[in-house]
Amino acid sequence: MIKRQTIERVIYTANVVDVIDEFIHLKKSGANYSALSPFTNEKTPSFIVSPSKNIWKCFSSGKGGGALKFLMEHQRLSLPDAVKYLANKYNIEVEYENDSSKKQEEIDHREKLFHALEFYQILFQENLWNPQLNRRPMEYLKSRGFTDEAIKTFGLGYAIQARQVQYDKASKGGYKFEILEELGLVYYTEAGQTIDRFRDRIMFPVYTATGRPTGFGGRVIDSNTSAPKYINSSESQVYKKSRLLYGMYQARREIISKGLCYLVEGYTDVIKLYQKGIKNVVASAGTALTAEQIRLISNATKNIVLLFDSDSAGMSAALRSIDLILEQGLKVKICALPKGEDPDSFSSKYDREDIENYLTNNAVDFIDFKSINLGIDGTEDPVKKAEIIGEIVQSIAVVPNFIEREFYIKKTSKTFKLEERNLFDALAQQLSRNQRKETRKFTPEPPPLTADKNETEVSKNQDSLVIDVLSNCMKEILEDLVLYSSLEVEFDDIVNESSSSPPTLEKRSYKVYQKIDKIFQTENLKFRDPLDHNLYELLIDFCNKEGGLESQHLNDIGIENPDYTSRLAEIQMKYELHTLGDWSKYKVVVPTIEDGASTKVNDDLLNLQKLLIQGKIRDLESKIKKLDSNSENEAYQSERGTEVLREIVQYNDLKTLISKKLERII
Ligand code: UTP
Ligand code: MN
Repeated sequence: MIKRQTIERVIYTANVVDVIDEFIHLKKSGANYSALSPFTNEKTPSFIVSPSKNIWKCFSSGKGGGALKFLMEHQRLSLPDAVKYLANKYNIEVEYENDSSKKQEEIDHREKLFHALEFYQILFQENLWNPQLNRRPMEYLKSRGFTDEAIKTFGLGYAIQARQVQYDKASKGGYKFEILEELGLVYYTEAGQTIDRFRDRIMFPVYTATGRPTGFGGRVIDSNTSAPKYINSSESQVYKKSRLLYGMYQARREIISKGLCYLVEGYTDVIKLYQKGIKNVVASAGTALTAEQIRLISNATKNIVLLFDSDSAGMSAALRSIDLILEQGLKVKICALPKGEDPDSFSSKYDREDIENYLTNNAVDFIDFKSINLGIDGTEDPVKKAEIIGEIVQSIAVVPNFIEREFYIKKTSKTFKLEERNLFDALAQQLSRNQRKETRKFTPEPPPLTADKNETEVSKNQDSLVIDVLSNCMKEILEDLVLYSSLEVEFDDIVNESSSSPPTLEKRSYKVYQKIDKIFQTENLKFRDPLDHNLYELLIDFCNKEGGLESQHLNDIGIENPDYTSRLAEIQMKYELHTLGDWSKYKVVVPTIEDGASTKVNDDLLNLQKLLIQGKIRDLESKIKKLDSNSENEAYQSERGTEVLREIVQYNDLKTLISKKLERII
């Protein structure tokens, strides 16, 4: 176990902007940074990073927290791994508790998979570089022009021919067969023998964005065999090929700084371009491009250039990818390589400058690409032409942003000398066609037809409405507690509630947490959401011990319970929202600024009390109804009834008093 002190040091040292910036392209926005949520497929940015609070919040997914939490959520690292990652980044020494007795079993399953992958990756790499072992794989790589540096950067390795040697080593190292089998590294033969799956192959490790091997592609050396050219790791808890991009770990920084990502087909294409100095390149290895992969790229840039061989397979792959990319709101260009070349062979023939020039000069947008490749130049046939333009409009229609759509329509109109108006009509038609498809896909079940609601059902609905208002109000108060706990405020205190003389409001000074604590205790209030409830209890305990909350306490609470970090970050972030412009669209209330805080907190608590009083009045009213319908002891009842009625009148007075206070003009 990692020592708590190390975790704390990491949390206090890590700069959330630096950490997130490695994975997501952040834009300065007032005092904060914003980006499109990496967790959802949103079109307007609601992922906010606050450098001053050192926290992030994603309003569209509800996630949030500090640097550690980001790595855990976004990179799906375990806590120890996120700590190790940050410790490494900030040169902090990781100290462990003295409990080396912890065995392999106790590490979580994902970790076991990663550890085994790391073990095999190192083993493969050693095999490749070991001068005592087979030299053919290294000679092969050299003959294909791979440099030592690139071979190291991409962690290439070699799986030896022997059937069990690698497995024996792993087994001795404590890695269990079941784990290795799940990763597709070993299997049982029918004869009951355990053997390595990758044998006599060049190994290309596929890394996560934080640089952990998550699977392998293994290439045959001898192309004459009948065996498949590549075999890839099987899908596992950590290797999901549709969500991985080969080369992303090595390319990410360059993609962000160049504002552009080249997308190629193969492992070798990535490495060859990289070693020529074109480092912003990734491949969707072993699968057709997926929406998830595009989203990975879109964290770093909105510009993709597809780099494909100009054979027909390459072309149709490009055509398939275009709409998928446009749909995700990204821009796409396509660069066809000279006949017979793939990125690998092409980059071997030219130097960096020539390659860059070629890529810049030959990348065309999807309109030009489609019109050229669907053969618009060769045809005078108006039907054929209309078909091609229809194809282009289809692509334009998937672009989510209407300004961009307009831009593309204008360009199409210029390119083909067509009336804009006609193209807009065609676009409108296509959009409504897509819309119909969408609704067909997503139409929810119609609600069941019910007979007229009876009275109890209506009142039940009203009750749940009341509870919603109350629970919103309580949430607001939880936020007040986090933000203003130790602020001294003149509250309107209720005096004489439920005594015989009429109630009044009196100014009394408390710290915010004291007043909240008092009301919550006397009214025995509980949050509906258990997370909020536990958080509240923790916060109030802290306040009672320390006289209020400092950001230090909030951090501590976050360390103790990672679940709370998100909630706390959300609250703290709300406080900063006014620096970010139009927040109404995120449905969050912008809190009053500091000097209005006293009024806000007082109002929130008055509001809470008013709601509680309304509840009491309702209870009393139903008591009266029951008394009416139940006439056993007339005398007793009329006495009880008058008493209840008096209580109702008093509460109504109090309610009016509070309402007046709340409606005052400040
Ligand atoms: P390529 O056949 O173009 O391979 O397949 P490559 O990477 O360029 O390798 P070289 O240059 O021939 O050595 C493109 C990608 O498709 C996947 C691999 O990810 C490969 O990089 N692929 C290909 C497989 O998964 N299995 C195969 O049998 C072939
Ligand atoms: Mn190739």
